[in-house]
Amino acid sequence: MGYPVTKARKFIINTPRHRAKRNLQKHARFLTLALMASGVLPGARVYAASAPNFNTQVAPILQKNCLACHSSAAKMGGLVMESYDALMKGGAHGAAIVPGKPDESRMIQMLGGKVQPRMPFGGDPLAAADIATLKAWVESGALGPAAGETAKALAPLAIPDIKPQVSVVSPVASLKFSPDGKLLAVGGYQVVRLFDSASGKPIATLSGQADYVRSIAFSPDGKMLAAAGGPPQRGGEIKVWDVQSRQLLKTMTGHKDCIYSVAWSPDGKLLASGSYDKMVKLWDVATGQELKNLQDHIDAVFAVAFSPDGKHLASGSQDRSVKIWDIATGQRLYTLSDATDGLTGIAYSPSGKQIAAAGYDKTIYIWEVGDNDGRMLRSLIADEDGILSIAWTPDGKMLITSSSDGSLRFRDAATLDPIRVIDHQPEWVEAIAVSPDGTRLAAGRFNGTLSLYDVKSFKEVLGPWVAFDATGQGTSDPGQGNRGAGR
Ligand code: HEC
Repeated sequence: MGYPVTKARKFIINTPRHRAKRNLQKHARFLTLALMASGVLPGARVYAASAPNFNTQVAPILQKNCLACHSSAAKMGGLVMESYDALMKGGAHGAAIVPGKPDESRMIQMLGGKVQPRMPFGGDPLAAADIATLKAWVESGALGPAAGETAKALAPLAIPDIKPQVSVVSPVASLKFSPDGKLLAVGGYQVVRLFDSASGKPIATLSGQADYVRSIAFSPDGKMLAAAGGPPQRGGEIKVWDVQSRQLLKTMTGHKDCIYSVAWSPDGKLLASGSYDKMVKLWDVATGQELKNLQDHIDAVFAVAFSPDGKHLASGSQDRSVKIWDIATGQRLYTLSDATDGLTGIAYSPSGKQIAAAGYDKTIYIWEVGDNDGRMLRSLIADEDGILSIAWTPDGKMLITSSSDGSLRFRDAATLDPIRVIDHQPEWVEAIAVSPDGTRLAAGRFNGTLSLYDVKSFKEVLGPWVAFDATGQGTSDPGQGNRGAGR
């Protein structure tokens, strides 16, 4: 638990279950000791009180059903439950428990499925009696271990407890159309899959990435593809692939934490990357060398984008700011600091005169950007929950967002007025991409499925289909997959 637990890592995309399981095995020995020491082993102590006791009644439920994914090693949703204090600190969305108010507590809402995804993630809902115990505990003030009781670390119990009850697929972490629009590249756990964007048929799998492929960029000529990610807390990685031959050309390393965003310069010569290590780096594609380290953000960088003329780079961060950098000198030109929470997505308008950014404060911001300064043109609280992804259509007329409220929203880019909402997505749409001709929107979900929507009719025209199976290989194509109602 040596690092901040409240800081939002951009969404989940950290740790699928098999990683949680590995961590578990690592901690297995520590476990038993910690449990014995902390007195949370079932039956260690029976505490008779009207309000459920944390150590004897609450902790065992969390331990059995939640710790596998909410240990400090797995830390899904940014939430750690290894101690009362860690639990009360909350996760990516802030406090998970509001003492005295179960209905306002994210943890209780998620157990009942009122807030998606339901917890325990991917498993059966908790027994009603267990939910009732947790609810009663929150209702009674969510008190910690009583005086005299140890408040020691909880650790995941037994490996069989997290045996997946549903087949585990890799979430779709990133998506990009090739510049000619023919390919759809999809990033998941350790792989990129290439699909024919017209038929949805899988064409190739590029494997060997160290962790989730959180961002993809094609070279402007479409010949190369950069897949970026890397293991959290250990290092960022960009792999550059030859698209035709599917050969790995280069692996670029240097970031101290995983990369969340990669962009290719319009002249094809540079790559830019933004990482959880707070740095933005520029890389020479030809040599694979790091050219510049752009250092000024004070928190994780989740998004980078080149201006269409290639002169500037915009970076968006958990520190709530957008910074505009001069590519030639590596100098920071100015900072746009209107947002009130971390920014997850940035998009230049096709004209290059405006930037749109969005993130955890549910708001879309649009700035007019010049060489030396920028000013906010408009902003709108646009979604009901954090915005995960934002894209501008190539004609500059529409902005599209996906949000953790489960929606895809199309808006007039000039006014931010709503044009269309595609609601009730089966799962979070983690990644969106608009085809270069502007006719299709690709949506990739946390549950590993993909769909293509027609940007004029807003109808689903292909999918949903499963991009990956547990091993990272694709399992179905739209021809055989479960077709959605939109067809
Ligand atoms: C198999 C893994 C897994 C298990 C088991 C699991 N969770 Fe989660 N949990 C997640 C993931 C992934 C997220 C992030 C989901 C999201 O934000 O979309 C999350 C997020 C949360 C959050 C929200 C954190 C935030 O601030 O966004 C709460 C609260 C939570 N889980 C509670 C629980 C409880 C209580 C249990 C046990 C009953 C549990 N979880 C079991 C994977 C798991």
